[in-house]
Amino acid sequence: MKVLIINGPNLNLLGRREPTIYGSRSFDDYLAELRAAYPDVEMPYFQSNHEGAIIDSLHDNGFGEVDGIVLNAGAYTHTSLAIADAIAAISTPVVEVHISDVMKREPIRHHSMIREVCVACYAGFGLDSYRRGVDHIINSK
Ligand code: DQA
Repeated sequence: MKVLIINGPNLNLLGRREPTIYGSRSFDDYLAELRAAYPDVEMPYFQSNHEGAIIDSLHDNGFGEVDGIVLNAGAYTHTSLAIADAIAAISTPVVEVHISDVMKREPIRHHSMIREVCVACYAGFGLDSYRRGVDHIINSK
């Protein structure tokens, strides 16, 4: 089983970025724990601040290369028809995740461009949203 985790813009700053919203733990630190909790699951990780690079990664992993993708598209969630189109174009299931509870934040964060093309969404569980996303892919296999 192989689950790719993709983080979008500004998520490279986790641990330093607005800790009251996103916590004070780095993603590398969390990812080590997540990988250890699922020793039978390969978990490659990709982060980019660039919309096109995220789309390229979806294309490169979208046709059976991995069993599923857990995607935190960051602010592109709310703006990117291009990422939504890429998810619709591929056959690999994509789970949308967010650290914060976007529905309880500013109205501009309430709409997700990608929600309808993803198989599930976990938001507001802190970093545990990623584990829930991985679990979703494992349980739907
Ligand atoms: C986020 C929520 C988005 O609204 C925001 O732009 C992010 C992070 C989250 O994980 O809570 O960058 O996706």
